[in-house]
Amino acid sequence: MKLRAICTFFLLILCVAPASALDNGLAKTPPMGWNSWNKFACNVSDQLIRETGDAMVANGMKDAGYQYVVIDDCWQVKRNPDGTIVADAERFPHGMKDLADYIHSKGLLFGIYSDAGRQTCQGRPGSRGHEFQDAFTYASWGVDYLKFDWCHAEGQNSVESYSLMRDALKTAGRPIVFSICEWGSTKPWQWAKDVGNLWRSTEDIQNCWDCKADWGGLGVVRILDLMDGIEYAAGPGHWNDPDMLEVGNGKLNAEESRAHFGMWCMLAAPLMSGNDLRHMDADTLAVLTNKEVIAIDQDSLGKQASRVRKEGDKEVWARELAGGNRAVALLNRAATPQTITVKWEDIGYPAHFSAAVHDVGEHKDLGTMTGSFTATVAPHGAVIVTVRP
Ligand code: GLA
Repeated sequence: MKLRAICTFFLLILCVAPASALDNGLAKTPPMGWNSWNKFACNVSDQLIRETGDAMVANGMKDAGYQYVVIDDCWQVKRNPDGTIVADAERFPHGMKDLADYIHSKGLLFGIYSDAGRQTCQGRPGSRGHEFQDAFTYASWGVDYLKFDWCHAEGQNSVESYSLMRDALKTAGRPIVFSICEWGSTKPWQWAKDVGNLWRSTEDIQNCWDCKADWGGLGVVRILDLMDGIEYAAGPGHWNDPDMLEVGNGKLNAEESRAHFGMWCMLAAPLMSGNDLRHMDADTLAVLTNKEVIAIDQDSLGKQASRVRKEGDKEVWARELAGGNRAVALLNRAATPQTITVKWEDIGYPAHFSAAVHDVGEHKDLGTMTGSFTATVAPHGAVIVTVRP
C-alpha cells in the first residue's frame, strides 16, 4: 500500500512536470545570429532585413554558424479590431510571412520582438493580454525566435508573464527559441531555465569598454562582472545572455573588439551580432567569424566560464570543454600591457601536468607547458587559449 502511494506520487510528478517545462529542444548550443537593435534601433525595414540575410550568407557568417536574423523593436504599429498585431506596412510592405519566407530561402532563421507588457520599450503594442493570439500569428508567419522584453510591465510578475508566453508558444506548435529580456531585474538565472532558452542577465550593453549610462546601460567589462557567479545556470537549452555584440559598431578598438567577442564566447553567450553586416571591414568580419573562438562558445558541454583569479586589472577566466580540456582567457582590463599567469591549479589540473597550449585568437600552438602558462596581454585585451593535458 505504502509502495503504491509512493509510485502514484512519482507518477503524478511525471505527469505534471512537462506542463511547466520549456522543453522545446532548441538552443542546445548558444544561439547565433544578428539583431537590428544595437546599430539600427527603430530604423528597421524589409530591405534591411533581406540585405542582412544576404550579407550573412555571402560574407561567410552563415558558414561560421550564424543563423537567426532578428528584427527588434518597432516593426509593429497597431492591432486590428480583432486584436491581431499589425506590422508597419510602409517599412514592411510585403508583410512578415513573405519576409520570413525570404530569410528561410537563404537557409537562415527568422526572429521577431515583442514585450510582456502592454507596450514595447519604444511604445509599440506589447503582447499583454494577447499572448496566445500573438504566438499563433508568429507561428503562421514562420517565426523561429522571439525576444520578449519587459517594458511597461509594472505590477506584472516576471515568472508568470514569461511562463504564459512560453505556454502560448508551445500551444502554437512551432519550435520558437524563446529569449527572455527582463534585464536580470528579477534574477532569471534562478527561475528561467524551464521558461526560456536564454535570458538577459544585465541591463543593455553600451558601445564602450568600461562605462555606465545614467539609466543603467553597461560597457563590456561591467557586464562581465555581473556574469561572474551565475555560471551555474547556463547549459544546453538555457543560457545566460550578456546582451548582443557591439563588435563593428565603431567605438571599441581592435583589441577591445577581440576581447569582447572572445569573452562572450568564454561565457557561452548567445552570439547576436549587432552591427551593419552589409558594410563591414575585414577586421570586424575576422573577429565575428573566428571559428576557433566560436568553437569554444559552441562547445557541446555548454559550461559558462568562471572567473578563477583576479588581481586588480588582471583576470583569469576558465571553462571546461567537452572531453575534459579547458579554455582559458587571460584578460587585461588595464590601459597598459600586463603579464598574466594561469596556474594549472586554477583550472582544476594538478601542477605537475604537462599540457599543450593553443592560442585560438591567433590560431597558433604555443607549446607544452607544465604547471602554468604566462602571456603578456595588450591593454584591454584577452589572450584566449585551449589547454590540453
Ligand atoms: C530594451 C532591450 C533592448 C532593446 C530595446 C528596444 O531596452 O533591453 O535590447 O530590445 O528595449 O526598445
